[in-house]
Amino acid sequence: MSSSTRNKKLLSWVDDMATLCQPESVIWCDGTDAEWNAMWDLMLSSGTATKLNEAKRPNSYLVRSVPADVARVEERTFICSEKEEDAGPTNNWADPKEMQQTLNGLFSGCMKGRTLYVIPFSMGPVGSDIAQIGIELTDSPYVVTNMHIMARVGQAVLDVLGDEGDFVPCLHSVGAPLTAGQKDVPWPCNPDNRYIVHYPETREIWSFGSGYGGNALLGKKCFALRIASSMARDEGWLAEHMLILKLTNPEGEAQYIAGAFPSACGKTNLAMLTSTIPGWKVETIGDDICWMKFGEDGRLYAINPEAGFFGVAPGTSMESNANAMLTMQENTIFTNVALTDDGDVWWEGMTDEAPDNLTDWKGNDWVAGTQAAHPNSRFTAHAAQCPVIADEWNDPKGVPISAILMGGRRASIVPLVTEARDWKHGTFFGTIIASEMTAAAFGEIGKLRRDPMAMLPFCGYNMADYWGHWLKMGEQENVKMPKIYYVNWFRKNEQDKFMWPGFGENSRVLKWIFERCNGTAEAVETAIGNMPTSDGIDFSGLNLSEEDSVNLMRVDTEGWLAELEGIEDYYATFGEHLPAELTTQVNGLRSRLQASKQKF
Ligand code: GTP
Ligand code: SPV
Ligand code: MN
Repeated sequence: MSSSTRNKKLLSWVDDMATLCQPESVIWCDGTDAEWNAMWDLMLSSGTATKLNEAKRPNSYLVRSVPADVARVEERTFICSEKEEDAGPTNNWADPKEMQQTLNGLFSGCMKGRTLYVIPFSMGPVGSDIAQIGIELTDSPYVVTNMHIMARVGQAVLDVLGDEGDFVPCLHSVGAPLTAGQKDVPWPCNPDNRYIVHYPETREIWSFGSGYGGNALLGKKCFALRIASSMARDEGWLAEHMLILKLTNPEGEAQYIAGAFPSACGKTNLAMLTSTIPGWKVETIGDDICWMKFGEDGRLYAINPEAGFFGVAPGTSMESNANAMLTMQENTIFTNVALTDDGDVWWEGMTDEAPDNLTDWKGNDWVAGTQAAHPNSRFTAHAAQCPVIADEWNDPKGVPISAILMGGRRASIVPLVTEARDWKHGTFFGTIIASEMTAAAFGEIGKLRRDPMAMLPFCGYNMADYWGHWLKMGEQENVKMPKIYYVNWFRKNEQDKFMWPGFGENSRVLKWIFERCNGTAEAVETAIGNMPTSDGIDFSGLNLSEEDSVNLMRVDTEGWLAELEGIEDYYATFGEHLPAELTTQVNGLRSRLQASKQKF
């Protein structure tokens, strides 16, 4: 385990942070198998990890967090811009100087008795023009192993960084120092003092007190979305909470599609979908984050800045997402799932019946009727292990995006698919995404909340300025923007059942989108946007009731008019930052809805 650099900024920052945090030792990570094994040896001896059955899940481990540290903590996540206004009404803002004082106090001596690991990582293929370099300092071996999978880690990154290169400093501590002779606990953390702090102007991240997912793997939401969205605004590109997939038709023609869905709303599933339409094929580029820059031809080229998947386990099965199941057959980290008596993993929805003698995610004998796996339990697996990973997933140039999907969980009003009239209208679609909440963050599950572009918890600056940035991207000369689609797999009928089967059947919707992009499918104009003709999407063989198949595509005029009230109230919270174009969009939609009412 060692890496070396002569980058002065990096060396002096590591020195300064070691002085502040006072670890027992400092180790520079190299991303090798030897390092992976050494980290697991540590975690096995501290009781953090359980090694899974080598015959069933080679080189894989189960880790249990404590019940207080199982998801992102949005109310403890801060954007510390100089001006409060620049964080906007949807972010928690704190004064950067005051926050720095608080953090200096918390980080002072916080790594006593622990090792500080220096993790050089690249978000995106090492050396790609679209990629960025970060350095995470952490006292968590669990973070080290997850970063091995989720990012490109090691000496190659330091080589690209060079002596003078710049990086995003990402400091992380579980916030649980050890006194001399004190025995460590399996999941050290500090739930009463959690701070996930971003300085968008100086591009720094400080995270304290949590060891879990997006709070601790700082390359992911903190860097690749919150900090990167600020960089993207300044530099004219986009950093988005989107999957990226490659769709190929029976003639072998391929298109690339990105899709923004809030946390736990189907990105991983869509990215790895097995098409139910003969001859059509989906391959994966990324399942969570998408960075897009204009190419010389004026199109947006996308990379997946990550190297692995940190996917939701519950609900994943050979029926719902076989490719995800096959991705996690080996070399995988499982967090907060249940353990079987033969040393394998299980979660709700993996099979119809739970196996006998399960140990639940808290480490107790499982009692039927209680949660075996935590609803936000996750698997961490390398992208290259995905059987349908696209060859170009690692291409430094990225892939040209033809269409962007926007969606969320909406039990009513929002139809299966609606095409935006143009980029501005599509941006409007993005701003009005709302979704029923899931277990991916602390909060009231099922409650409807506005989640523009699925970026509510991830936008590093004023959300309305971010909308302005989207609009500006499309106004540049000689650009060819992707088409935008509002989709909803989650509309429910009167029996409170999903009308649409979803999962692999979503390929039927993707096919229509593909054919719209290459100009071979028709659409009907409606008040809310362009929709498929009655034979545009093939519903055959789905056994949909007559009622559901009509309602899936129904334009609920009254519902939309009521929705507009809520949208206007929401927009009003952004004051002068709201782009005028969005008010134009609301007014346009309202008058089209009213006109369509008069037709009947
Ligand atoms: P994050 O990793 O939190 O960003 O989540 P994600 O957007 O990648 O969500 P994921 O694909 O992991 O899906 C989350 C949950 O939604 C799982 O429990 C799935 O079973 C469920 N889900 C995914 N796709 C569909 C669908 O098309 N229809 C229905 N009804 N449920 C779906
Ligand atoms: C999400 O919540 O959107 C995730 C998981 O992808 S986390 O890494 O915790 O952000
Ligand atoms: Mn996500």
